[in-house]
Amino acid sequence: MADDFGDEFMRREFPLSGQDFDFLRDFAERRVGVVLSPDKREMIYSRLARRLRSLGLVDFAAYCHRLARGDSAEIAYFIHAITTHLTAFFREAHHFEALLETVFPAIEASMPAGRRLRLWSAACASGEEAYSLAMSIQEYGRFAGWDVRILATDVDAEMLSQACAGIYSADRVSGLSSERQRRFFSRLGDGRYRIADELLAMISFRPLNLIEPFAVGDGYDVIFCRNVMIYFAEPHRRALIARFAEVQRPGAYLMLGHAETLEQGGAQFYDTCGRTIHRRHVDQ
Ligand SMILES: C[S@@+](CC[C@H](N)C(=O)[O-])C[C@H]1O[C@@H](n2cnc3c(N)ncnc32)[C@H](O)[C@@H]1O
Repeated sequence: MADDFGDEFMRREFPLSGQDFDFLRDFAERRVGVVLSPDKREMIYSRLARRLRSLGLVDFAAYCHRLARGDSAEIAYFIHAITTHLTAFFREAHHFEALLETVFPAIEASMPAGRRLRLWSAACASGEEAYSLAMSIQEYGRFAGWDVRILATDVDAEMLSQACAGIYSADRVSGLSSERQRRFFSRLGDGRYRIADELLAMISFRPLNLIEPFAVGDGYDVIFCRNVMIYFAEPHRRALIARFAEVQRPGAYLMLGHAETLEQGGAQFYDTCGRTIHRRHVDQ
């Protein structure tokens, strides 16, 4: 994008040229796959202006220079600033209902060797999705004696540390039934809620970038990858679905977010068997 004469962004406290904006868009896409459309210049400015002030920088060119020279703390900050972290306990509740009604009974009936259950929350943000999976397993109640593990990953180190801490403000927990609040949380002195140790013990949290090849083991019975692919360009989405297929056995489940579809290529690996619920081909 060429700088327009009289560009309003060049007259701001921290000038943001079209060239700097293009650099930041390109950097975001190369690092984490997130596509920032040309109309996101205001968003970039507002999410980063305070950061430039605290770093004592005079313009976005200096900020771009920092990222370009590989300042890892700044890259982590940038990734946190440009990604969306909206989540909630039992968000898109129909997936958790499907777990209890069809997915868990199907896994239980298939009696995998070693009575082993593996779930993956593949962009866990602040952790609510992974803990909702753990609560669902506990509520299902029929995996006692099974080897159960949940992997929870995110590219954003700040979100991952919030997820590991498992501490939530009262308003994040208020939508849960009082039964769930009592069973799965303890109340801290400052009014916040802490996740029960029995749930924490079921989950391993790890940093993981979904646009890079991953080594997470295999045999995932259920993968939740919700509300992250929507930010990716099509080649990244397509490659990610193919990598998920590699770590899932036939009949395993992949849950996507409400606005996400398998797109071209996905049907090669998965059948759609419910609202944003997909199942690894049995004949692959
Ligand atoms: C909107 S949240 C989704 C949280 C949860 N899955 C849900 O649906 O409630 C999107 C998450 O994707 C993460 N993310 C963005 N790009 C990523 C990437 N390349 N690899 C892994 N996680 C990524 C962000 O850090 C953010 O926490």
